[in-house]
Order: sequence, then structure tokens, then C-alpha cells
Amino acid sequence: MTLFFEASTRTRSSFEMAAHALGADVLSFQKDASSVSKGESLADTVRNLEAIGADVLVVRHPCAGASRAVARVVQSTVINAGDGFHEHPTQALLDALTLRERLGSLAGKSIAIVGDIAHSRVARSNVHCLSKLGAKVRVAGPSTLMPAGIEKLGCEVARSLADALRGADAVMALRIQQERIADARIPGARDYSRVWGLTPKTLELLPPGSVVLHPGPVNRGVELSPEVLDSDRSLVMDQVDSGVAVRMAALALCLRARVSA
Ligand code: NCD
Repeated sequence: MTLFFEASTRTRSSFEMAAHALGADVLSFQKDASSVSKGESLADTVRNLEAIGADVLVVRHPCAGASRAVARVVQSTVINAGDGFHEHPTQALLDALTLRERLGSLAGKSIAIVGDIAHSRVARSNVHCLSKLGAKVRVAGPSTLMPAGIEKLGCEVARSLADALRGADAVMALRIQQERIADARIPGARDYSRVWGLTPKTLELLPPGSVVLHPGPVNRGVELSPEVLDSDRSLVMDQVDSGVAVRMAALALCLRARVSA
């Protein structure tokens, strides 16, 4: 069962496609049509879905730690499909697969992650995943969107787009997570794209052969100019394609672990 308490285009569809491809029955929980809208708690909701027969619950929720909380109250396998600004593990795995298909081993490769680092679960999961695979990860973004102490996760912090891009084998652009930002500390879209947007001109700072990623949804003309998004260097559609294979693997491995447990 997929339980998405936040909007999704790619993640939910690719989990459901992956589950179908493995021969599973798939149910898609609709938050607004469910008893959550009548006041039922998350814990009671998932206990009920487990009683209906869910072997796997794929959970996306605006609160950091929500999938961990779900896993504490059910025996079903729980896969985190994004919890607030905390983690998005299958996104990092599909990014790693996409990068490995294009660049080969990631050991010693330099990867820049640029944008709203403070509110991005994609950034956090990628710092963990890519550095575990041997890559050097550098993060950069507007100073108001850089979390204090991010280097403790095992990445470097670059102070400008030019510093982030220098020598990078790949650059991953991130969307400003407007929905997680209560105050007005973000630059407007036009200011943001002028300083941090990837355009054919800023890509000249990258070595030849280096590639561009974005987890989507892309705000065309803000994080990536249309020319960059639609160019040969853009792996954005390859990322989406990798998502189905990675989620098939995640589901199969988790279910196999359950059967053998
Ligand atoms: C991301 C997410 O939801 O964290 N999208 C995705 O899963 N592909 C990134 C985003 O929303 O900006």
C-alpha cells in the first residue's frame, strides 16, 4: 500500500509500477478520502491498513521521522518515500544508479548538490549514499538555505556556484522547498535563478562530459534553464527511469528479508 500524505508525481507512480511489475496487489491510500480527515491518527490508520493485509507500507509524510514512527507500530515492512526534510532513501539510490550508469564507479568522483540544502531530504540522503559509494560530495546554496553543521554528514560546503561546479563530474540541482519554509528568508525565483540557476553559461564552469541531475519537480527556468533541462547533459529522465528498477529492488529485497525472517 502506498500512503502519501504529501504530493507526488514520480515517487508514488514508480513504486506502484514497480510493485505491479513484481506481481503484487497495489492499493493507493487517499489521505483526503480516508478517515484521517475525520481525525484518525497516523498510528491507528496504519494499524488498520496492516489488518487489511498490507505486507509493505510505502510512506511519504511531511514530518521528519514519520516512517520510523509507523515502523514502530506495525509488523509490515515500511519504506520511507520521503519524511519531511529528513530523508528520501530510494531517491538517493536511483540517483546513484543513474550516475553509475553514466560515470561508472563513483569512487573519487566529485558531485555538487546545489539549492535548498536546508529543507531537502534528497540532499541529506544523497550525501549519505554518494559518500558511502566513495564520491566527494560538495553542497552549495543561498546562505539562508544552508543548514549549520551540514559538513558533519560528510560533505564539503562551497560558498558559490562557481566553487561548487569547479571540477564536478555531476551537479544535482534542487528545488526550493517552499512548502517547508514558513518565513520569508528565500530569494524570489528570479533572484535565485540569476545566482544559482544552471544555464548553458554556468555549465561552462563544469568539465566536459559532466552531467546534470534534478529529482523533479523542476521549475523550468528557475533551477535549470530549459536549454539545460532538455540538453544531452541532463539525466533527469534517466533518473525517473531508474526509479522503477530501484523501487522493484527495494520492494523485492525487503519482502525477501521478511520471508526469511
Ligand atoms: C523530491 C521530494 O519529494 O523530496 N521529489 C521527488 O521525490 N522526486 C524533491 C522535491 O520535491 O523537490
